[in-house]
Amino acid sequence: MYILGIESSCDETSAAVVRMEEGRREIAANIVASQIETHRLYGGVVPEIASRAHIEAVTAITHEALDTAGVTLKEIGAVAVTAAPGLIGALLVGVNFAKSLAFANGIPLVPVNHIKAHVAAAYLADPDLKPPFLAVVVSGGHTSLFEVRSHTEFIEIGATRDDAAGEAFDKIGRVIGLPYPGGAALDKLAYEGDPRAVKLPSPALGGETLDFSFSGLKTAALNYINTCRQSGTEVPRADLAASYTRAIVEGIASKTEQALISRGYKTVVLAGGVAANSHLRARLQQVSVAHGARLSVPPISLCGDNGAMVAAAGYFAFLAGQRAGTDLNASAEDHPAWES
Ligand code: KG4
Ligand code: ZN
Repeated sequence: MYILGIESSCDETSAAVVRMEEGRREIAANIVASQIETHRLYGGVVPEIASRAHIEAVTAITHEALDTAGVTLKEIGAVAVTAAPGLIGALLVGVNFAKSLAFANGIPLVPVNHIKAHVAAAYLADPDLKPPFLAVVVSGGHTSLFEVRSHTEFIEIGATRDDAAGEAFDKIGRVIGLPYPGGAALDKLAYEGDPRAVKLPSPALGGETLDFSFSGLKTAALNYINTCRQSGTEVPRADLAASYTRAIVEGIASKTEQALISRGYKTVVLAGGVAANSHLRARLQQVSVAHGARLSVPPISLCGDNGAMVAAAGYFAFLAGQRAGTDLNASAEDHPAWES
């Protein structure tokens, strides 16, 4: 069946047409309109500007996706839309658009959780992937470990208690003068520096917990930058990028390893915008192999926010019988009412 996926939770408006059946995953179109250039001016996402940009883009993007796929609305079996979590105003644009489109055309509407959609991106490139597995979700807003029991049932077994890994990357990127969002630029810069040059605390909390805390790491890096500036020395940006990346990557790797050891998963899925990080991809591959597990990670083009991952998650939610009515509301929260 063809699923139309619509994403508008943050700063990307996206619509995709994906064909999924038993053993078949085909991305017929995945159109992403990024607002990054607009928000770069402000060093971060401005929610009101994001909502307006989604309104301006969503109709044209959806037409483009259908045209590119060569599919009409009559052939669409379900409309899947990110309904939580994210920026409320941004989410509302996608949700209301999807509701109108679905009900005007008599197509079933399926609400999708953005975090589950990031994980579902892995199914698109890896047709053999099946739950159960351990999902490591690292994005601009989330850093969590999930035991994925079925395509729709996720149990959170670890999470950040404060900032997310992506936020931590973006914050330090901004302070050392890299363009927003800093994650991708830090990834590259890290290759030019010494990962042991700057001593930084780990974001992995000690003990049995699988939780993280990134605020101490962020503060330590900021203090380091301030100390350099106050003493008139230039901040060694590449060394800091390498050391900071190492701290984040090792922190995530150590909790992944702990989860593999204590719970014996055979498959690990790495997903979310920060899953594009080359150092993290390589390190989790090592950790997975060392513990007899297979790592599945989406191609970089499917790590950031996109409609194809929403359509993939929507397909499995559709199969599980999940439907929304005209009363569907967006929710900024991780656990919206329609999921309970
Ligand atoms: O999943 P995503 O597109 O949006 C959210 O759902 O939050 O993630 C965006 C985050 C940003 O913080 C961005 O800096 C980060 O993903 N990111 C990266 C890389 N590419 C994107 N972080 C580290 N290394 C990268 N290569
Ligand atoms: Zn995302």
